[in-house]
Amino acid sequence: MAIAENIATRAQEVVNRCRRLAEFSESAEGTTRTFLSAPMRRCHEEIGGWLEAIGAEMRVDPAGNVRGFYAGDKSGAPRLLLGSHLDTVPNAGAFDGVLGVVLAVALLEELAGKRLPFSIEVEGFSEEEGVRFGTPFIGSRALVGRLDDELLKRVDAGGVSMRRAIEAFGLNPGKLQEAVLQDDVLGYLEFHIEQGPVLESLELPLGVVEAIAGQTRMEFTFSGRSNHAGTTPMNLRRDALAAAAEWIVAVEQTAKSVQGLVATVGRIEAKPGATNVIVGEARLSLDVRHKLDEIRVSAASSLIQQAQQIAASRGLSARHALLNQEAVAMDSFLVEEIEEAIRKSGCTPQRMTSGAGHDAMILAEKVPAAMIFLRTPGGISHDPAETVETEDVAKAIECGLHLLEQLASSREFLKRTSRA
Ligand code: GLV
Ligand code: MN
Ligand code: MN
Repeated sequence: MAIAENIATRAQEVVNRCRRLAEFSESAEGTTRTFLSAPMRRCHEEIGGWLEAIGAEMRVDPAGNVRGFYAGDKSGAPRLLLGSHLDTVPNAGAFDGVLGVVLAVALLEELAGKRLPFSIEVEGFSEEEGVRFGTPFIGSRALVGRLDDELLKRVDAGGVSMRRAIEAFGLNPGKLQEAVLQDDVLGYLEFHIEQGPVLESLELPLGVVEAIAGQTRMEFTFSGRSNHAGTTPMNLRRDALAAAAEWIVAVEQTAKSVQGLVATVGRIEAKPGATNVIVGEARLSLDVRHKLDEIRVSAASSLIQQAQQIAASRGLSARHALLNQEAVAMDSFLVEEIEEAIRKSGCTPQRMTSGAGHDAMILAEKVPAAMIFLRTPGGISHDPAETVETEDVAKAIECGLHLLEQLASSREFLKRTSRA
């Protein structure tokens, strides 16, 4: 497979397309696109047009994932999955997730109709960030059969359940089985911006992910008693927001005291939320990460205990809902193939652990999975200033084409079957 000469143009188009998708937003300014929101449909339409032009069949599965199928050289050929997620955090940049989907489409375009001994399925996952339901990876969970009734019952800030959100988008949650991977999958590959400073500091455009750090996410509720702000003396208050504030400081101190531990309270909601009313209920999110699962798990349980102690000392109660995602190793065969493809693109591969979570960690439960990182200018992500160098995107396309060529001629790869 000769590498096409127009890769620089293709890379520019990839960047332009990411910026175009960033226009599909729930907010008038910036980009916010959560699970099955109206702008997600606009995204689907746009991507559907690109897929149709290259003869790939597109469907939206019952979990709202875009699935674009580009057939292999014979019927019944096994399939390779290539993609990332289409949802965003509030006030996001244009590249987190979206870049991996747009790059997958660009690789199919570069194939220019050529068929490989495997089909390629482009994945545009409906949800990875966990913004709408406090639950990350909704899209990729559906592919591994982990979108269960418990999760479907979760409600968003407006009281809409996940099940209802799926129905409101015109999809059938009763058919989620149709989203689950069959046993013809050879593996999953995901291009993603690094979202950190490592590649930039090493002056390298591309990296290969060896492992993805685990994460614990929690929803905490402190319940006290709302009352009049003018008439209730300080010693007779059960102020839920003051308890939450004490705990937030404890979260910061706990994380600072353990090497490599990060813990974040990213959202807080106080009820009833008026200047002259003591807060009766405070709800907070907590995100805890460390590359070693034991350290993360023990920090999370210490933070739960501290919340309970703070609540008890103030005459309040504290409850929490917990979601754990363990650290995951990437497939060593694919990691080595990626390293070779990066070298063939004229770059030095850098092995790294991802501190951010990715759909690849969910897919890895069922199929061999691996990721390629692109340098992130300034290490900035989850912010409108997030960007990528067009030259690095060109290197990623080159790397992807080498990788497809390597895999297409690898007997070892083609005889692998999925663990589904
Ligand atoms: C994904 O962006 C994460 O929060 O790890
Ligand atoms: Mn993200
Ligand atoms: Mn992401």
